[in-house]
Amino acid sequence: MRIIVCESAEEVALKAAVESIEYLGEALSATNPEATCVLGLATGSTPLGLYREWIERNRAGEISFRNATSFNLDEYCGIPASDPQSYHTFMHENLFRHIDIDPAKTFIPVTDGDDLTQSAERYEAMIEEAGGIDLQILGIGSDGHIGFNEPGSSFSSPTRVKTLTKRTREDNARFFPSIDHVPRTALTMGLGTIMSARAILLLATGKGKAKAIRDTVEGPITAMVPASILQFHPYATVILDAAAASELSLIDYYVDAERNRQR
Ligand code: PGA
Repeated sequence: MRIIVCESAEEVALKAAVESIEYLGEALSATNPEATCVLGLATGSTPLGLYREWIERNRAGEISFRNATSFNLDEYCGIPASDPQSYHTFMHENLFRHIDIDPAKTFIPVTDGDDLTQSAERYEAMIEEAGGIDLQILGIGSDGHIGFNEPGSSFSSPTRVKTLTKRTREDNARFFPSIDHVPRTALTMGLGTIMSARAILLLATGKGKAKAIRDTVEGPITAMVPASILQFHPYATVILDAAAASELSLIDYYVDAERNRQR
């Protein structure tokens, strides 16, 4: 794992933008129609700064999403896609409507229908048909979840319905009128799906994530901390602000390694 420690949440957003744009290279320059990319996207508060950076650079003509396809990690069950709290709405409002991506190439798990198992299987198949995810953006839950893969999730899981923990529902209650309005289940890419991405960019900010980050980066690999599976990923980068990095025992080493990194 590559660990990048930043001073602030703003610097995390900036660094994530620079790293993602550098990694995706020609695919975001749209000069070569053959150079395409498949993005794995996340919702929540954490990636908003990165999305703002992408939007600004897209507006300035520095990057283009014309050759990009995107797949979101998850969607709540039990609320329609048109609901203000759905992740469909979130992505439209916070990213898609501001950039030049083709809406027909933006995918979010569909939870409106009756057969969620079929919807999940179809989602996996679509990711595969698109050639797999090149770069997966991740936040992390305070309980160590990625996507909605809660503690105890199978490391090889595909997209499927998961029940949310009480803690996740409490964490997300801030977006709803009350905790009783927070859905109890979601359709989420599995840990197996996430691990199949060619590269991973996990972002975390704030003291509330410090323990989950310590357990993810330095703890044992355990289904009790789903994000700890990322220790097995060959190309996972973790970008943190000082607060989220504050419980890492090897923080000085990570900072030193980054300073000496060969480009
Ligand atoms: P947050 O959510 O970015 O809103 O903290 C992260 C997550 O639950 O994965």
